[in-house]
Amino acid sequence: MRHKNINHVVHEWIVPYLKENHLIVDATCGHGYDTKFLCDQKVNVIAFDIQIEAIEYSKNLLKEYANVTFIHDSHVHLERYIKHCDGIIFNCGYLPHSDKKVITKPESTLEAMAKAYSLLSDDGWMCVTFYQGHDGGAEEMKLGIDWMRKNMNIVHEYTYENVNNPPIAIFAQK
Ligand SMILES: C[S@@+](CC[C@H](N)C(=O)[O-])C[C@H]1O[C@@H](n2cnc3c(N)ncnc32)[C@H](O)[C@@H]1O
Repeated sequence: MRHKNINHVVHEWIVPYLKENHLIVDATCGHGYDTKFLCDQKVNVIAFDIQIEAIEYSKNLLKEYANVTFIHDSHVHLERYIKHCDGIIFNCGYLPHSDKKVITKPESTLEAMAKAYSLLSDDGWMCVTFYQGHDGGAEEMKLGIDWMRKNMNIVHEYTYENVNNPPIAIFAQK
């Protein structure tokens, strides 16, 4: 059976929660596909990535858009750039077709999630897609999901059935 693509599922979850003037953070902009999806919904977007290659690629993809700001820094420093946000998306792992050693890491992902939570509006949301295929991915998934279950209200979960070590996406409200 063909699975519905996890990124498409996540985008469908997010749409009903977006309102004009919302500030949404893309914590892992990568090739900018999630960032572009958010920009197309007419919200204001702040997109982080630690790789300049990812930032340059995404800037080029979104050169016609005025509702996005790119930040070349780790999402663990997000409070240096924003004081409040309405939603945040993490798409963990590495940049496809790039250096597989530059990956999100369990401790920093968890720290960034906790910081983001404290900056979220009262009805804010967090959506995280975890992968197990990179070093530390299984630990990142376990820590991140446990943290979300403990601290947030889970609204949606999605994974691929009958696949070894599948990704898991979780959408939660504050
Ligand atoms: C799976 S990709 C993201 C895919 C992206 N959302 C898209 O739509 O193309 C993960 C990205 O996270 C970035 N990354 C890893 N650790 C990071 C960190 N601490 N802060 C910000 N970005 C990080 C990587 O450089 C990589 O580009």
